Amino acid sequence: MIQAKRIGHVTFKTPDIDRQIAYYRQVIGLGLVAREANRAFLATPTGQLAVVLEKGDEPSCARIAFEVSSALSFAEMAKRLQADGLKSEERSDAVPGTPKSLAFTDAKGTSIELFTEWSFLAAEAPAAGSLMPVKLGHLAYVTEDPKAIFDFYAKVLGFRLSDWIGDYFVFLRCGPDHHTVNFIRGPNSRMHHMAFEVKDTSHLANACDLLGRQNLEIVWGPVRHGPGHNIAVYHRNPDDQMVEFFTDLDRMSDEESGYFEPRPWHKDRPQKPKTWDPSKQRDMWGLPPGPNWRRGNE
Ligand SMILES: [Fe+2]
Repeated sequence: MIQAKRIGHVTFKTPDIDRQIAYYRQVIGLGLVAREANRAFLATPTGQLAVVLEKGDEPSCARIAFEVSSALSFAEMAKRLQADGLKSEERSDAVPGTPKSLAFTDAKGTSIELFTEWSFLAAEAPAAGSLMPVKLGHLAYVTEDPKAIFDFYAKVLGFRLSDWIGDYFVFLRCGPDHHTVNFIRGPNSRMHHMAFEVKDTSHLANACDLLGRQNLEIVWGPVRHGPGHNIAVYHRNPDDQMVEFFTDLDRMSDEESGYFEPRPWHKDRPQKPKTWDPSKQRDMWGLPPGPNWRRGNE
């Protein structure tokens, strides 16, 4: 096993790089780090690489990068992946600030990149009035067999179970955050949504005003979820990919305790990882998702 520490950057294919650059700069508040003919690199206001754009025919999530413990050499990581039956390849084609990575394919066919060394980037300042996220927080994926993918992520990358909804939606953590990846059952393996964390609820309210100004429909939220208890707002970006802004996500800062840091809105005391009953209302408050959230997710 190789212990994942956090999600790093996600690589998206897009038919219109310039349109997506404009979106990530003006709406999300990422700063452009570098632009090549068919690639662009964007970082959070803290200087962490978050999004890589690559020219492609269709919008898709091409690769996900995770920072892993630097305790292991690349050779040792490759050996451990091999022991799990996975072929890996060392890459040094270098995204800015990350000199090398180890690439392999996960059980649902997504390309994963592991890195240890990285540096903060000097990105342009975030656009005035943009979201200015704290970080890229999590990625949700549709897959035919979430249990099999959970087993894979637990065994290969040390992810821990945070919650299930029934047997069709699983939330996994690799650090204190309630979830860094989640997997929902559905046909055709693909990204379900990406999520950026904002500082607090006032920033989330500003984010709603920002979406209104930009004529980007809020397709769900604000809502306080059950699993993770984050307050979330969802919209779709110009490539029709779902994007969540969230704050107040549960955290397990002490793994030994086995429960999430107590919060007044928790109904379980203590709030431990559990299976939520899909037939019961889960959200703490807020209306159900709208038709443009449900679109493609039926
Ligand atoms: Fe989410």
